[in-house]
Amino acid sequence: MDKLVIRSGKKLNGTVAASGSKNSALPVIAATLLSPDGTFSINRIPDLKDVRTFIQLLEYLGAAVSFKNNRLEVCSSNLKSIEAPYELVKQMRASIYVLGPLLARFGHTRVSLPGGCAFGPRPVDLHIMAMEKLGATVTIEQGFIDAKVNGSRLRGAQIDFPISSVGATGNALMAAVTAEGTTVLENAALEPEIECLCQFLQKMGANISDIGTTKLVIEGVDQLKAVEFDNIFDRIEAGTLLGAAAITGGSVTVTGTVPEHLGSVLDAFRQAGCAVTIEGDAISLDAPEELQPVDITARPYPEFPTDMQAQWMALMTQARGDSTIIDRIYLERFNHLPELNRLGAHIEIRDNQALVHGPQELTGTKVMSTDLRASACLVLAGLVAKETTEVLRVYHLDRGYESIEKKLSALGADITREKYQEFS
Ligand code: UD1
Repeated sequence: MDKLVIRSGKKLNGTVAASGSKNSALPVIAATLLSPDGTFSINRIPDLKDVRTFIQLLEYLGAAVSFKNNRLEVCSSNLKSIEAPYELVKQMRASIYVLGPLLARFGHTRVSLPGGCAFGPRPVDLHIMAMEKLGATVTIEQGFIDAKVNGSRLRGAQIDFPISSVGATGNALMAAVTAEGTTVLENAALEPEIECLCQFLQKMGANISDIGTTKLVIEGVDQLKAVEFDNIFDRIEAGTLLGAAAITGGSVTVTGTVPEHLGSVLDAFRQAGCAVTIEGDAISLDAPEELQPVDITARPYPEFPTDMQAQWMALMTQARGDSTIIDRIYLERFNHLPELNRLGAHIEIRDNQALVHGPQELTGTKVMSTDLRASACLVLAGLVAKETTEVLRVYHLDRGYESIEKKLSALGADITREKYQEFS
């Protein structure tokens, strides 16, 4: 297995380019299943484990895929299966994104239930509810979601989401774009990755109004075509790199971003005392002599993202004073907390709130976590921990960060990837 070995003491400095977004790439790739016509070319697809898993799923379904230099080409003219198997879905929950497109195109699909994940139960009831509203009969059989269209085609419907869900909004969109008549999605997710999916579907020929709002109106069309498209940047990767600058007292510019997508995160950095400047698509952060504590609550976009909460906790271990961190999306997403404490942080949990007592001097040791963002948090902590920190099981990071150690090294970090063996 791979581990990252980090020696502290380096202030990060320099300029780094943001990669393409994982969380928009996955639904966009799924949406290519909607059209049998031609070959899609999608640029700025990050080369990540999750993307590779999704490509495997597409190939399993029968699509022809080529992926080189962040450009993905997909032709799904000759699909041969309508089933997403357990072996692939269990590796990546986002495989559920094939539910809407396969149902819309073939009138029947079977998708393995994804199960829980490292930070608690993650139900798919809203995905199923949306398919049922659009006229499908859904049964759960032997661990699979089996969805069948009643009649010849899905029918437009009013779908009110009781809570904001990125995945369920994406699936509902992909199912609705070729349904008969009008679909209205109320309380649709506002995340930029959903806006990106809407733009992609629109380019394919879909008719979606009010993109970028919580009420999306979709007029079903008869067919969609293959197109060329540029994926958006990864706001969480950019936020993590800025966090690396802030925690080391450095000064870093991330280029190729859409700064508005990071609004709440940049606000939090400013409150912590960082100087944040924006010039076109570049965001620069200059860390202060001393970080100030900032309380954050993770909620749906445009508020502070749950996917930046763990990295924020690492940062707050170095702030002068106490701060609280609450996650309203995943109440118990605190896997990183005991590992940060093993590095010397002093963080307590009270009623699903993390109370971070800062500043604490961290000292490196071997750490690991069971999810992607928790691992990113440990890398940030390793950048300031005295001596050497080893972040084990880097495959979690590889699911969502493209060459993180190369990007951090280019900014001056002392970080290397090494092989190690785990005892079983
Ligand atoms: C996506 C992101 C993930 C991010 C999350 C929240 C991808 C591939 N993943 O995950 O990185 O952390 O958004 O921003 O884009 N829920 C239900 N029933 C459902 C679906 C969701 O109760 O059927 C709940 C979830 O448990 C959670 C909340 O809704 O509490 C939001 O989850 P959701 O936005 O759906 O997350 P994902 O799309 O799975």
